[in-house]
Order: sequence, then C-alpha cells, then structure tokens
Amino acid sequence: MEFMDVVKNRYSCKNFGATQITKEQLDVILEAGRLAPTAKNNQEQHVYVIQSKESLAKVDGLTPCRYGAPTMLLVAFDKTNTFTYPGQKYDSGIEDASIVATHMILAAKSVGVDSCWVNFFDPEKASEAFQLPKNEEVLTFIALGYAAEKAEPLPNHFNRKPIEQTVTYL
Ligand SMILES: Cc1cc2nc3c(=O)[nH]c(=O)nc-3n(C[C@H](O)[C@H](O)[C@H](O)COP(=O)(O)O)c2cc1C
Repeated sequence: MEFMDVVKNRYSCKNFGATQITKEQLDVILEAGRLAPTAKNNQEQHVYVIQSKESLAKVDGLTPCRYGAPTMLLVAFDKTNTFTYPGQKYDSGIEDASIVATHMILAAKSVGVDSCWVNFFDPEKASEAFQLPKNEEVLTFIALGYAAEKAEPLPNHFNRKPIEQTVTYL
C-alpha cells in the first residue's frame, strides 16, 4: 500500500473480530517498531506481545478498550536509558516510545491489520499486572486485529482541522 493510503486508511478500530493476525504480519509490525528512530539512538523501548488468554484477561482487567482484539502490544520504555534534553526538564522516553508505537500502528495498516492506540488505563497497575521491571515505564497498549464485519471509524475520525489551522509557515 502507498504510504499516504496507509495514513488515510488507518483509523482507531473499536470492534475487532476474533481471528488472530498472522506471525508474518506481527513480525512486520514489530520490525517497524525496531527500526523507529529514538533520541541519540538509545532504543529504550520494550514491546510486549500479549496473545494468551490469561494475559488478554489481565488487559481486560486494566481497560475496557481492548474491543475484542486478539493481540495487544504493551509499549514500555527503560526510564534509566532515556536522553535528557538541555535544560534537564524533559527526556526522550515518552516521545521515543510514541514514535515506536506510531511506526507499528502504520505498519499494521500496511499489512492489513487494524489497530487502536489505548491509553485509558493506569500504567502503574499495568506494570504490576505484568510484573514489568521497575526501570520500565508503560506508555500504551496497542490493540491489533481485523476489524469486525460491521466495524467502522467513529465519526470524529473524519473530523480533522484544515491545514491552515495546524501549520504555519514562518
Ligand atoms: C494517545 C492516544 C490515546 C488514545 N487512547 C484511546 C483509548 O484509551 N481508548 C480508545 O478507544 N481510543 C483511544 N485513542 C483513539 C482516539 O480516540 C482516536 O485516535 C481519535 O479519536 C481519532 O480517531 P481515529 O484514530 O479513528 O482517526 C487514542 C488515541 C491516541 C492518539
């Protein structure tokens, strides 16, 4: 699929069928995350693949937003390996992990897999539920699967501001 078609066709799917994505599709998605840029190339992301019944049930205990997806990715990052910007106020952890997640969401669409970015949960509870290492901070879940037959984008998907409102030429 052409890149701009991927971008245009991706939407936040909130109704997945039960069919599992293939290993080949999952591998493409994970590889797109691996190749994402990070500040100073620190690569502090850690992506967890959740497909077992037990682990999906844990996700359901943390958020109502799995929407039946048969695969959930949990994207975390090593907060001891982020790059701190001059001024010492901010570091790269959240943005690096967000870039990784965005790469994976777009790669998913490119191989015919639907997705939803899911932040509606308590990251600390997720960390506890999956017993993640203490140095890792949880950023997001990504729901992955095939949209159910009658699934469609929410109306707000089609509501984007005109470019003049979000872009300024200086
Ligand atoms: C950072 C972020 C967090 C989000 N968290 C959730 C969520 O927890 N649950 C959910 O159903 N959708 C979530 N979404 C999906 C948004 O609701 C959706 O992207 C937005 O309304 C635009 O719709 P579209 O992705 O279909 O174009 C999230 C999206 C982003 C970018």
